[in-house]
Amino acid sequence: MIDVIEQFVIQKLGDHPKRLKHVFGVKDTAVILAKIHGIDQEQAAIAALFHDVTKYDSIEAQKQLLDENSMMKYAEYPVMYHALSAAKLLETVFDIHDLHVLNAIKHHIWGTKDMTTLEKIIFIADSCEPNREFDDAPIIFELAKKDLDHATMIAMKASIDYLEKKGYTPSQEQLDAYHYYQEVIRGKIK
Ligand SMILES: [Fe+2]
Ligand SMILES: [Fe+2]
Repeated sequence: MIDVIEQFVIQKLGDHPKRLKHVFGVKDTAVILAKIHGIDQEQAAIAALFHDVTKYDSIEAQKQLLDENSMMKYAEYPVMYHALSAAKLLETVFDIHDLHVLNAIKHHIWGTKDMTTLEKIIFIADSCEPNREFDDAPIIFELAKKDLDHATMIAMKASIDYLEKKGYTPSQEQLDAYHYYQEVIRGKIK
């Protein structure tokens, strides 16, 4: 199954070699973290391979894969469409309906509150895979080997800082997720 999915992704992102390199970086990182944290490595590989698969599809094409509610909910943040449409594409093309995998793809951009181990791993791997050119990436990866919650919080902070530096306003959903993991680290949740 993995081989077929890999070929599909290679073909789909064929015109985007940098993105493809990123996707395989996320896959390798996610598999390493899955192994360390004792979860299914195949689920991690599938979620990683598919997380950005619709990134270069037109918004119109992505909307074909979304339900009305999601479209409305994220109308101001169409960046979210590629996460939701990628999950839907995995369901339609490969008949994979594993909620762990689908949710990890759906939540890879902002993260969310109370994530599963797989969701955290995909979120973190997306942020810190070796082709990422930001200084904290290796620190996040090292931290993730020991403490996924802490690495999640740092990766969320890095994403919010990046957006703010670029002049964008992070969504409330993204900020809420970050504040949730701040509380987890402070020991106030769990
Ligand atoms: Fe993405
Ligand atoms: Fe990505």
